[in-house]
Amino acid sequence: MSLVTTKEMFKKSMAEHYAIGAFNINNMETIQGIVDAAEEEKSPVILQASSSAIKFARIEYLKKMVEAAVETTNIPIALHLDHGPDFETCKMCIDAGFSSVMIDGSKYGFEENVGLTQKVVEYAHSKGIVVEAELGKLAGIEDDVNVETDDARFTDPEQAKEFVERTCCDSLAIAIGTSHGAYKFKGEAALRFDILQKVKGLLPNTPIVLHGASTVIPELVETCNQYGGNIPGAKGVPDEMLKKAGETGVSKINVDTDLRLAMTASIRKFLAENPSEFDPRKYLIPARDAIKQTVQHKIKDVFCSSGKA
Ligand code: G3H
Ligand code: 13P
Ligand code: ZN
Repeated sequence: MSLVTTKEMFKKSMAEHYAIGAFNINNMETIQGIVDAAEEEKSPVILQASSSAIKFARIEYLKKMVEAAVETTNIPIALHLDHGPDFETCKMCIDAGFSSVMIDGSKYGFEENVGLTQKVVEYAHSKGIVVEAELGKLAGIEDDVNVETDDARFTDPEQAKEFVERTCCDSLAIAIGTSHGAYKFKGEAALRFDILQKVKGLLPNTPIVLHGASTVIPELVETCNQYGGNIPGAKGVPDEMLKKAGETGVSKINVDTDLRLAMTASIRKFLAENPSEFDPRKYLIPARDAIKQTVQHKIKDVFCSSGKA
């Protein structure tokens, strides 16, 4: 199979009410863990790289590693730019062979976001590449964007309709109460499903994207803390809410933090229990397995995309 855009996978997911997992990639072990899980579940999958991931791993390496994943598996795989900060970064990724890009204009005012998104859409569509845009601010830390919690605002459904009509973006990320990172809620977890329903009612054919959707899996946090970590009070979006989001019209669910926790928990535990080991393969094998297990659980039990490849 070759790299695909998200067009067909979203069409099917909207018709059948499930979500596709979009997992952040930074290195080979993470890519392999994600792709092995998706292959075993016969699920489509989106591999996404942020601009800091691209700086870290280098675009040529990321592209070639994803190509290797595509060549050695039999599932639809999309390679997506996560939180593209500007036109130039989107263009660089499109020219490098990504099949999907996100332009994140959420840090700008409405008109500026519309203008920037239109510019990216025009270039991307001329090359057959799809575009995710964002309207509404997530609380927490985004790639190169720091939005204070008290500045967080939800997406306005009427504005979302106007935004999609004017920009012709292919999918839209909305703010309904999630945030990036390991500290999503101070009290009880709560999402504005009413906003999601309104957006979906006004935009029935637009795939909706949920950022900041890690569960912040308690056992992983516990393992990190047990073996020398210091991540107190971390809290994410419970699985049941993510399942409901998929059933209510979210087509793409973004996960990065849970993969970071899975890898770090595994490495911390291994090194603490095997202090004389210094062969990186010894701890990267269980770390890759931890990524695989985490992704497989999400695909199978939460996003419900097993067997949809
Ligand atoms: O939404 C942000 C993603 O988790 C990527 O984070 O910029 O640290 O790679 P990063
Ligand atoms: P998490 O921090 O909840 O994993 O969100 C990741 C994300 O939204 C990437 O764009
Ligand atoms: Zn995000």
